Amino acid sequence: MASFNTVAGCVLASALFAMVVGKVSNALVHPHKLEKPAIAVSDEAPTTAVAAAPAQELPPIGPKLASANVEAGKAIFQKQCFTCHTIDKGGPNKVGPNLWEVVGRKKGSHEGFSYSSGMQAKGGDWTYEDIDHMIFKPTAYIKGTKMAFAGLPKEQERADVIAYLRSMAASPKPLP
Ligand code: HEC
Repeated sequence: MASFNTVAGCVLASALFAMVVGKVSNALVHPHKLEKPAIAVSDEAPTTAVAAAPAQELPPIGPKLASANVEAGKAIFQKQCFTCHTIDKGGPNKVGPNLWEVVGRKKGSHEGFSYSSGMQAKGGDWTYEDIDHMIFKPTAYIKGTKMAFAGLPKEQERADVIAYLRSMAASPKPLP
């Protein structure tokens, strides 16, 4: 019995010892593992991808506008755009320009707002299609734009928002 206890004691002790050694060596090894800069790997890929990405072809948004939901668009606007844009008549410029009557407005023309040079060089009026491209991916549509917004990937959401933008005018432009 005594020898059994001794053996059992030894086994237990070495098991404990192994556990402690394991913990300690883990603690010693882990910091070294974490020192490897996992983030640095992604350093190059995205920048080249963004630079090389061609302007994306979007199917025309016009046909989707007739059935778009203005109320849903308003809710999306308040969540995604309102931090930077007011849209009421005579509303102040914030990070971005006021968007009252933006449909059909000359690009980069709202008074008192200092647009990026890319926006100033763009030219033309805001058509439904142009707004669609702008809110799909601002950086792809206007080189060096100040609009730091990732974009709305969902076509239905863009249609709803554009329908809302259209409604925010004294006399909304005709649908295409
Ligand atoms: C982080 C701030 C920010 C957010 C969020 C943002 N915008 Fe903008 N927006 C800007 C800025 C800044 C400009 C001016 C861009 C420039 O000068 O390049 C702009 C410009 C625009 C213009 C062109 C206006 C003009 O006078 O020519 C439209 C249209 C527009 N935004 C719509 C939207 C919509 C719709 C949303 C939400 C889906 C949105 N923006 C979200 C900052 C923002």
